Amino acid sequence: MGFGNAGRELARILVDRGQDLGDRMGFRLLVTGICTRTRGAVIDPSGLDMRRILAGLQETGALPGWGSTGRGEGSNAGAAEPDTYDFIRECPSDAIVETTPLNIMTAQPATSYIETALRLGKHVVTANKGPVAWHYRRLATLARDMGVRFLFESTVMDGTPIFNMVSHCLAGCSVIGFSGILNSTTNFILDEMKEGASFDAALEKAQRMGIAEADPSLDIDGWDSAAKTAVLMNVLMDARVTPVDIDREGIATVDDAYLRNLGSSGRSLRLVCEGTRSAGRVRIAEIEAGHSFAGIAGTSSILSLQTDLMGEITLIESHPTVTQTAYGLLNDIIEVATGSPSH
Ligand SMILES: NC(=O)c1ccc[n+]([C@@H]2O[C@H](COP(=O)([O-])OP(=O)(O)OC[C@H]3O[C@@H](n4cnc5c(N)ncnc54)[C@H](OP(=O)(O)O)[C@@H]3O)[C@@H](O)[C@H]2O)c1
Repeated sequence: MGFGNAGRELARILVDRGQDLGDRMGFRLLVTGICTRTRGAVIDPSGLDMRRILAGLQETGALPGWGSTGRGEGSNAGAAEPDTYDFIRECPSDAIVETTPLNIMTAQPATSYIETALRLGKHVVTANKGPVAWHYRRLATLARDMGVRFLFESTVMDGTPIFNMVSHCLAGCSVIGFSGILNSTTNFILDEMKEGASFDAALEKAQRMGIAEADPSLDIDGWDSAAKTAVLMNVLMDARVTPVDIDREGIATVDDAYLRNLGSSGRSLRLVCEGTRSAGRVRIAEIEAGHSFAGIAGTSSILSLQTDLMGEITLIESHPTVTQTAYGLLNDIIEVATGSPSH
C-alpha cells in the first residue's frame, strides 16, 4: 500500500536482491499487489514482475494498465481510482506493507488501513509513524489477538534497528529512558543559523535542497520529534501517550544572535527528544563540543537508550537515504517470514 519513495526503493531492492535473499533465507517473497492513490492499483496472485512495474511507472507515471489520471486503461478500462479498503480485502497476501503518507495529527487513513489488514489476519509492516505514535497499544493487541505481526522499524531512525535490537538482543533487560536527536530539518536550520543565516533564509535553503517539506511546520514546531518520542515511549516502555502528551518546544523562536555567538565555541543547538515511561519532552538543548551528540548534523540521527542491566547503549545513523528506510521495511518483512508468530 503506497508506492512512492519508500515503496519503490523496496521494490528496487527486491529486484536486485530477491533471488539472493530467497537462497539465503529459504523462502521467496512475492509481491502480489500494489495500490497507490493516483497511479492505480495492480493485483496478480502469482506475483508481479517488479522490474516491469518499475519500468512502466517510470515511463508513464502510472502502474501498468493505468493512465496518469488514475483511471484504468486497456484491460482495466473504466475502472475508477482504486479503493484502498477493497485492495486490502481483495489482494491475496500474507502481509501488507503500508507506506502511505503520514498524517501526524490524525494518523489516518493509515491506522484504519492497518486495522483492516490485521482484522483480516494479515501481518502488517509500516514505515508510517502516525499509527504507532497514536494507536500502538490497540494495534499491537489486535495483532496479537489475530496471531499476526505488526512491525514498524523504519518509523524512528529509518532502518537502524531500534525495536529489533531491543526485542532480540536485550531480552530480560528493561529500557528505562532515552534521549536522541531525531529530526534532520531542525539540525540543518540550526547549523545554517549558527553560520550566520537568518531563520527564514535557512528554512528556504532547506526547502530548496529537499530536506524540509513544503509545509515544514511539523518539523520546526517539534511535532515530528514529539511523534517519534511517543513511538519510543509506547513501544519500549509501555507508556500510553500520543504526540500531544509530549512537552514540546520548536525552533522558530531561537534567537539568531544567540546562535551566531555559539559559532566559534564548538557548541551547537539541537532539538532533543527525551522520554521515560512517565514523561516525554522535546526541547532545544545546547550540546557541548565533546558530547556524544556533538557530531550529529544534517540527516544523521542518534539515540541513546538507558537500560537497567546494560547501562547506556547509543545508536548512530549516518547520512541515511531512502535505502535505509526500505531496508527497515525489508528487515521487518523477513522478521514476519522467519520470526515467531507474535510478540
Ligand atoms: N521517505 C523516507 O525516507 C521515509 C523515512 C521514514 C518514514 N517514511 C514514511 O514512509 C511513508 C511513505 O513515505 P514516502 O516518502 O514513500 O511517501 P510518498 O513518496 O509520498 O509515497 C506515498 C505513496 O502512498 C500512496 N498513497 C497516498 N494515499 C494513499 C491511499 N489513500 N491509499 C493508497 N495509497 C496511497 C501515494 O500514491 P500516489 O503515488 O498516487 O501519490 C504514494 O504512492 C510515510 O508515512 C513516511 O512518513 C518515509
